[in-house]
Amino acid sequence: QRHLLGIEPLRPDEITTLLDLADQYVTLSRRREKHSNVLAGLTQINMFFENSTRTQASFEIAGKRLGADVMNMAMQASSIKKGETLIDTALTLNAMHPDLLVVRHPHSGAVDLLSQKVHCAVLNAGDGRHEHPTQALLDALTIRRAKGRLHRLNIAICGDIAHSRVARSNILLLGKMENRIRLVGPSTLVPSTFGEFGVEIYDDMREGLKDADVVMMLRLQKERMDGGFIPSEREYFYRWGLDAEKLSHAKPDAIVMHPGPMNRGVEIDGTIADDINRSVIQEQVEMGVAVRMAAMDLLARNLRARPTELSA
Ligand code: CP
Repeated sequence: QRHLLGIEPLRPDEITTLLDLADQYVTLSRRREKHSNVLAGLTQINMFFENSTRTQASFEIAGKRLGADVMNMAMQASSIKKGETLIDTALTLNAMHPDLLVVRHPHSGAVDLLSQKVHCAVLNAGDGRHEHPTQALLDALTIRRAKGRLHRLNIAICGDIAHSRVARSNILLLGKMENRIRLVGPSTLVPSTFGEFGVEIYDDMREGLKDADVVMMLRLQKERMDGGFIPSEREYFYRWGLDAEKLSHAKPDAIVMHPGPMNRGVEIDGTIADDINRSVIQEQVEMGVAVRMAAMDLLARNLRARPTELSA
């Protein structure tokens, strides 16, 4: 692949190759052998048009650990504020010969559009409700390490599916790897159209969590609700928030995941989130750096293997 725009175009063997490489980066990082020069001489620009803690920090750390020259564009202070378009901004940066562009944008499809205008590799760091591929990959690595496999697992993805690019990328990835996926939440936030992905849909948490190996909680994305259904937080937690009683319906060794940022007491009880015997939320963050290292390493190999468009 030239870019990493989504999970949709990836084959299962490509996903496995990336996860295997990420596993190696986890091992090296834990041995404090964090640095290499696989991106030496390459320029990585991070463009985040939406707020981020985990994704932006881990892409920056990943690039620096691999020896890239990393620049974080402060989009709030850029000429976007003077009316410059996304495409003109991309063309301007493209003229400075970056090798890797990491882009987060509030509009679905914006990162794909941008990738068609530049010569470098583009990594989607989340576009609207569409895809967040590196999140799904880091979730997959977390599951594979915790469960010893990434197939034939009962995986419950719970909460605000409708507005979630994390859910969409996870449904695609975990489906490709032949898992049984259940979507759990209020019908207003779990549209029946998701049935076309071959998933099961539950309104009732206890039924949806029954015998689950993995319980993945999602944040209520109020910023994307366009004035539509916004449940009261108390009511939402009572019916769809993960607490010890609801979790008891999953398998005794089920892991609890959350991509962050978390709203404690809304979609998840803080004691569950902090329970080191069940929660792998901090492991997800650790895997985020390794997966982003692997993704940029593989894209850089492709970059080096093909002639540049500017060489003619
Ligand atoms: N999970 C995730 O994308 O978190 P950030 O918004 O903090 O990057």
